[in-house]
Amino acid sequence: MRRAIYPGSFDPVTEGHLDIIRRSCRIFDEIVIALLVNPNKKPMFTIDERIALLQSATAQTDNSKCQVRVATFQGLLVHFAREQRACAVVRGLRAVADYEYELQMAQMNRRLAPEVETVFLMAGAGESYISSRLVKEVFQLGGDISGLVPPVVERAMHAKKL
Ligand code: PNS
Repeated sequence: MRRAIYPGSFDPVTEGHLDIIRRSCRIFDEIVIALLVNPNKKPMFTIDERIALLQSATAQTDNSKCQVRVATFQGLLVHFAREQRACAVVRGLRAVADYEYELQMAQMNRRLAPEVETVFLMAGAGESYISSRLVKEVFQLGGDISGLVPPVVERAMHAKKL
């Protein structure tokens, strides 16, 4: 039983995240999407809203071979990974710009918990420019975000704007 943690802020979940989740499912038996509860950030969606969006966006994922569940965590990611008995942390890599930060985190996490491996999946060519931050910016400035986020998220973003 190989369980992996896929951590992040998911504010909101994008098609890029969903691509990483689907592909992680081919490698692991269970993916725990771990939503960081960070009181210092001012998110667009509350934790409960992000949980609900993640759950409905991943409901279509083929879970005949891999279970996908959503959880929240506070504090150190490696503590949560240990608590969940996960063997790996999954992160998506989009561009060189992601690399330094991700390398630093992976190395620090390995120092803290050597038994938890960080596994990087390269973003798909069609998703490598998508980030939650840019999606929000484009949306707030009136741009079209369809195809960048799942339809349920797009609807929720429009509902926020009303
Ligand atoms: O989606 P994000 O914001 O890029 O995710 C960042 C996240 C949640 C993976 C990272 O901030 C994290 O792991 N935070 C938990 C605190 C922690 O473990 N810090 C030490 C990292 S080396």
